[in-house]
Amino acid sequence: MSMEFNKILAALLCAGIIAMLAGFVSHKLYHPHHLEKDAYEIAASEGGGGGPAAVEQTEPEPIDVAGADLAKGEKLAKVCASCHSFDNGGPDKVGPNLFGVVGGVHAHRPDYAYSDAMKAEHGKKWDYDALNKFLWSPKKGVPGTKMGFAGIKKPEDRAAVIKWLETQK
Ligand code: HEC
Repeated sequence: MSMEFNKILAALLCAGIIAMLAGFVSHKLYHPHHLEKDAYEIAASEGGGGGPAAVEQTEPEPIDVAGADLAKGEKLAKVCASCHSFDNGGPDKVGPNLFGVVGGVHAHRPDYAYSDAMKAEHGKKWDYDALNKFLWSPKKGVPGTKMGFAGIKKPEDRAAVIKWLETQK
């Protein structure tokens, strides 16, 4: 290859890269809303919510605890175990001990430092519906909660975790 040809090639490459960058930047500048929406929809469908309708979702899908997979629930609960213990008399960790929490009241551990949001729910029971919503999205289930957990998107996974949690009593 001659020097001249190399120079032309380099120039073309440069131009191509600049054109790509410019396109990317202008896309970001002029279509920020578009980008955000696309990203959101991808996240929603990856989460198993399924398509654009999931973007508007404010309530979780109903769950079938009786028909859920107990062994799967036990496996999934390992994620919770980084913050929670489940056994009778187990310690409060980052989150409260969860022994007997299914069917118990919100903020069921007297000595744990709950968020004000969780304390305010103290009269309410952790029934399947309340757990379904909280485990789907802690922030939507109990707005202001300090449980730093994204949530479990698949209804059958939430059902499985709740079924297993219910055996811890
Ligand atoms: C990153 C830590 C963390 C993880 C992971 C986590 N939690 Fe929590 N959880 C907390 C904290 C902190 C609280 C207290 C929330 C508050 O006071 O607002 C809490 C509260 C709860 C409560 C309410 C307890 C009560 O006494 O009212 C339930 C039920 C619960 N978590 C279930 C789960 C389950 C099931 C999982 C796994 C799917 C899980 N959590 C994963 C930190 C966590």
